[in-house]
Amino acid sequence: MVFYSGFALCAALTGATALQIPLLSSYYQAPIGHVNETNPLVNSTELQDLISGDRLMVRAKKLYEIAKLGEEEYNHPTRVIGSAGHIGTLSYIYETILQLGEYYTISNQSFPAVSGNVFESRLVIGDGVPKSAAPMGLTPPTKHKEPVHGDLVLVSNDGCQASDFPDSVAGNIAFIKRGVCPFGTKSEHAGRKGAVAAVVYNYEKDPVSGTLGTPSPDHIATFGLSGEDAEPTLKKLEKGQRVDGIAYIDAEVNQILTNNIIAQTTEGDPNNCVMLGAHSDSVTEGPGINDDGSGTISLLEVATQLTKFNVSNCVRFAWWAGEEEGLLGSDYYVASLPEKENKKIRLFMDYDMMASPNFAYQIYNATNALNPNGSEELRDLYIKWYEDQGLNYTFIPFDGRSDYDGFIRNGIPGGGIATGAEGIKTKEEVEQFGGKAGDWYDPCYHQLCDDLGNVNVTAWVVNTKLIAHSVATYAASLKGFPERNLTVASSAYNEETKYHGPKLFA
Ligand SMILES: *[C@@H]1O[C@H](CO)[C@@H](O)[C@H](O)[C@H]1NC(C)=O
Ligand SMILES: *[C@@H]1O[C@H](CO)[C@@H](O)[C@H](O)[C@H]1NC(C)=O
Ligand SMILES: *[C@@H]1O[C@H](CO)[C@@H](O)[C@H](O)[C@H]1NC(C)=O
Ligand SMILES: *[C@@H]1O[C@H](CO)[C@@H](O)[C@H](O)[C@H]1NC(C)=O
Ligand SMILES: *[C@@H]1O[C@H](CO)[C@@H](O)[C@H](O)[C@H]1NC(C)=O
Ligand SMILES: *[C@@H]1O[C@H](CO)[C@@H](O)[C@H](O)[C@H]1NC(C)=O
Ligand SMILES: *[C@@H]1O[C@H](CO)[C@@H](O)[C@H](O)[C@H]1NC(C)=O
Ligand SMILES: *[C@@H]1O[C@H](CO)[C@@H](O)[C@H](O)[C@H]1NC(C)=O
Ligand SMILES: *[C@@H]1O[C@H](CO)[C@@H](O)[C@H](O)[C@H]1NC(C)=O
Repeated sequence: MVFYSGFALCAALTGATALQIPLLSSYYQAPIGHVNETNPLVNSTELQDLISGDRLMVRAKKLYEIAKLGEEEYNHPTRVIGSAGHIGTLSYIYETILQLGEYYTISNQSFPAVSGNVFESRLVIGDGVPKSAAPMGLTPPTKHKEPVHGDLVLVSNDGCQASDFPDSVAGNIAFIKRGVCPFGTKSEHAGRKGAVAAVVYNYEKDPVSGTLGTPSPDHIATFGLSGEDAEPTLKKLEKGQRVDGIAYIDAEVNQILTNNIIAQTTEGDPNNCVMLGAHSDSVTEGPGINDDGSGTISLLEVATQLTKFNVSNCVRFAWWAGEEEGLLGSDYYVASLPEKENKKIRLFMDYDMMASPNFAYQIYNATNALNPNGSEELRDLYIKWYEDQGLNYTFIPFDGRSDYDGFIRNGIPGGGIATGAEGIKTKEEVEQFGGKAGDWYDPCYHQLCDDLGNVNVTAWVVNTKLIAHSVATYAASLKGFPERNLTVASSAYNEETKYHGPKLFA
């Protein structure tokens, strides 16, 4: 049986509810309240030398304590948007930057977010309960949060057109193939035709961990199903045989307000900004110390150490909210940039999951052929740095799974590094990085055990130094880095991707 449970009543976030988090004041003694104009121009080696594992771990412990604020409501530590753990994280970030005085200008960007919670679910097909059946992210519940019964009705083609849905789906369960259009579109069509639930089955043998995306009043309770589990049903339906089923989802979708935090250096050319980001939120299931506590803390530490230097170009740090719900914060940020402001951002660097326990040093394979000019230069900066350290690296797809996506789609070059999520480490990668073959890079990915024990400090320090290097390099000079090409329409990068966030979107 597939039962998903989770306690999650999302509290509305009002601006005034920020918790009082004690400040981390023990070790930074820079003068507060002014920019020291005699600071030397930022130097990569010197900035990297200021990064230490001990300091990262002090912050990680702090973040875990903050995640525990989520226990009262969720029965376990979490920093999911809307939780006390996330509000505490925002206060911690804000206070940490505030302490650095006038070196940074901080802003909160509030935006509406949807937060979905599935409390319980079950799918029965014929007399079997397919193991891979999983409710889609942001799915509505079945009617009255009760089980619904009906025949499985095969939908033609990919279920991307209303005409693919036969009238017989009314009162029944639509059985739809994955692909071509977003899951949300398929669910909407099924809902408009009166289906009581929908099942999207994979064209590959794997399960489908997807999301319906932005809620629609026409969405109906929707499951994903692996190709392997779908095959027997598909065969019967194609032969015209009857298959019935029971679908049950107890879930809710809530609208809340949450916020991004943006900190920009007061010094440096404001027309040429170097931007980087990590996401401040976790999934509901756990405290998110690696995902993305690691990136959040790396950025805080680099921002802190940077204050000992002067910069030529503006540096803008972002801590995004709602990444786990589908890149909500970064999308909102880029979408609300006036064109004039968009043009000032020379590049965006994404730092999500810097310390996976069974890590690989992964670089997003962001090329100029498919992405805004400059993405490849950034990729090559990462390559050169790992090579200079005598470290191995691998390329991973630049496919929309993290917060760089909104930037790329709006013409801003981007890239980043990561250390691996639910992928499986190969034997070759064990030779390159150590660790364990056959296991996930992050065995606690999106789980309760993504806690203080779920970081490899060696990898974390290496990658935080690389973040420092990327910031120092471009903050000192953008010489040779491609100018923003304003003649290329941003629609050139608007192709649909399989991902928009951590979950499959189509
Ligand atoms: C400014 O920075 C320089 C170089 O880091 C340092 O020697 C000096 O003491 C600082 N001045 C003040 C007023 O903090
Ligand atoms: C950066 O600092 C290192 C170590 O202090 C020094 O060797 C190097 O020359 C500096 N680089 C630049 C470009 O000034
Ligand atoms: C910005 O958000 C932080 C964290 O939620 C909060 O502590 C701070 O008071 C807010 N500041 C403003 C000016 O809204
Ligand atoms: C650094 O500080 C000086 C003031 O001493 C300022 O004039 C300059 O613009 C700043 N930037 C660089 C890159 O030196
Ligand atoms: C990187 O992406 C380019 C296309 O932009 C592709 O040709 C190349 O094979 C990719 N490299 C790897 C190692 O995935
Ligand atoms: C890099 O990978 C090779 C195998 O491909 C391995 O022999 C070497 O030890 C690795 N280097 C490091 C620093 O781990
Ligand atoms: C972190 O990774 C390094 C290199 O693979 C390894 O030597 C070390 O044991 C790991 N640390 C932990 C705590 O797993
Ligand atoms: C990319 O940047 C390079 C170097 O600045 C420039 O020569 C080239 O024309 C640019 N290409 C596009 C498509 O903008
Ligand atoms: C912008 O892109 C166009 C078309 O690819 C290219 O011809 C032009 O040289 C580019 N301009 C710049 C400033 O890179």
